[in-house]
Amino acid sequence: MHDSLFFQVPNSTFAPTVDGLYYFIFWISVFFLTLITSLMIIFVVKYRRVEGVEAQPSPGHNTLLELGWSILPAFLVLIIFGWGFAGYVDMRSPPEEAYEINVTASMWQWNFRYPTGAVSGELHIPAQKPVKLIMQSKDVIHSLFIPAFRVKQDVVPGRYTGVWFEALEPGTFDILCAEYCGQQHSDMLSKVVVHNNDPSKTDLNNDPNFETWLEDASDPIKDNEPLYESGKRITEMLGCVNCHSSDGSKKVGPSFKGSFGTTRNLQGGKTVTVDENYIRQSILDPNSQVAQGFDPKMPSFKGTIKDEWIDAVIAYFKHLKKE
Ligand code: CUA
Repeated sequence: MHDSLFFQVPNSTFAPTVDGLYYFIFWISVFFLTLITSLMIIFVVKYRRVEGVEAQPSPGHNTLLELGWSILPAFLVLIIFGWGFAGYVDMRSPPEEAYEINVTASMWQWNFRYPTGAVSGELHIPAQKPVKLIMQSKDVIHSLFIPAFRVKQDVVPGRYTGVWFEALEPGTFDILCAEYCGQQHSDMLSKVVVHNNDPSKTDLNNDPNFETWLEDASDPIKDNEPLYESGKRITEMLGCVNCHSSDGSKKVGPSFKGSFGTTRNLQGGKTVTVDENYIRQSILDPNSQVAQGFDPKMPSFKGTIKDEWIDAVIAYFKHLKKE
């Protein structure tokens, strides 16, 4: 299946209702637009004023026709209401057994937390299992939008909002912010990774099934590997790599590579040595020391990242220095 003119490939149990109703309204609109516009044009031509022809008095009204064009559209509107209401109730009623994931939106990133304590910058979910998101905002109103699932829900500061869905096929799909939330609103993107939910099957593209992914993400520091490997895993898990490269190239933020031990110019004219404390503070309070030539765009990872994980990330910085 391909993306269509209006929609991405549908991949949730809601999609058939949403798409069906959308196209129903769309084709009704096309039908009446064509009918009414054509009649208008025909009447304008047919009843135009002609030299030498007297205007006739109106023949009065046609009860049957008038009842018809009032009652029939009323039925159409009721069908649209019934269809939409049934879909709405379904979307507002998560099944009790739904898997719960906490979502925090902030300017300008998404953060997902799982019952095991795992956190991630991309949403990971199992296929063919109901998932419920419990969402809150750290600052302004955002809106979680997953086009492929046909769901969109505001995320509001000071209260929880929720949304649920059941994905059909494994794959990777877009997450967007659909509420204007400031300068980087259009960069507030993420992905939802739908994992194979069958532990007996390994995904074709070597994708781990959800349980395997969750185990890794819950405890990213492995005993049997160098600490920097764990650090690398953590930067991927938390989405750091979306803005920081590990090959020296400049992205939204400075590259990780080759930075440890160097002197960095900060905005405001100060300089600082990139050491353990600088890295730690940059993770927890990024806007307190923004590198020159970059915008203060990084969100704080306070409360998201654990102290041992910071150690691992620092080890990764040191490792990249050596490489
Ligand atoms: Cu967050 Cu727009």
